[in-house]
Amino acid sequence: MIRVLFVCLGNICRSPLAEGVFTDLVAKAGLDERIAADSAGTGGWHVGEPPDPRSTEVARRHGVDISLQRARRVDPRDFERFDYVVAMDASNLDHLRRLPQGRARLMRLLDGVPELRVRDVPDPYYDGDDGFEHVYQLVSRGCALLLDRVRRDHAL
Ligand code: 4NP
Repeated sequence: MIRVLFVCLGNICRSPLAEGVFTDLVAKAGLDERIAADSAGTGGWHVGEPPDPRSTEVARRHGVDISLQRARRVDPRDFERFDYVVAMDASNLDHLRRLPQGRARLMRLLDGVPELRVRDVPDPYYDGDDGFEHVYQLVSRGCALLLDRVRRDHAL
């Protein structure tokens, strides 16, 4: 199994959405027995909690159910367990780079999307619903190109 971990700060807004959207794309491509996704946060404040209701709602509107996810914190062993560790923004990436590295390829989601000028998926925690729709659009574009990359890397 090829494993992909999405990482943000709290693991309740952005990375659960990325996990849900990516998992949905994988299933639609018929690759769910080859590729699996998970998500985690660099911070531990929300461990055990379901996603933020605003993320659950924007996902639901786009046909993706993320309601059963529960937040967890990044574990250094994730760098051995996962093939790709995908940060949402530069701050998440910086945090991850300071941990002992393993075999995982570390990247930032939007670095794989050359036509977008933004490189960070912005933290929507203090925004209104528009912020979550914007995050969905960015995550959705990033996940589509990430899946292309994983398929290329593994000849799938
Ligand atoms: P996330 O958003 O990193 O996309 O899950 C946040 C959620 C919670 C907090 C910060 C960002 N917080 O400070 O509690």
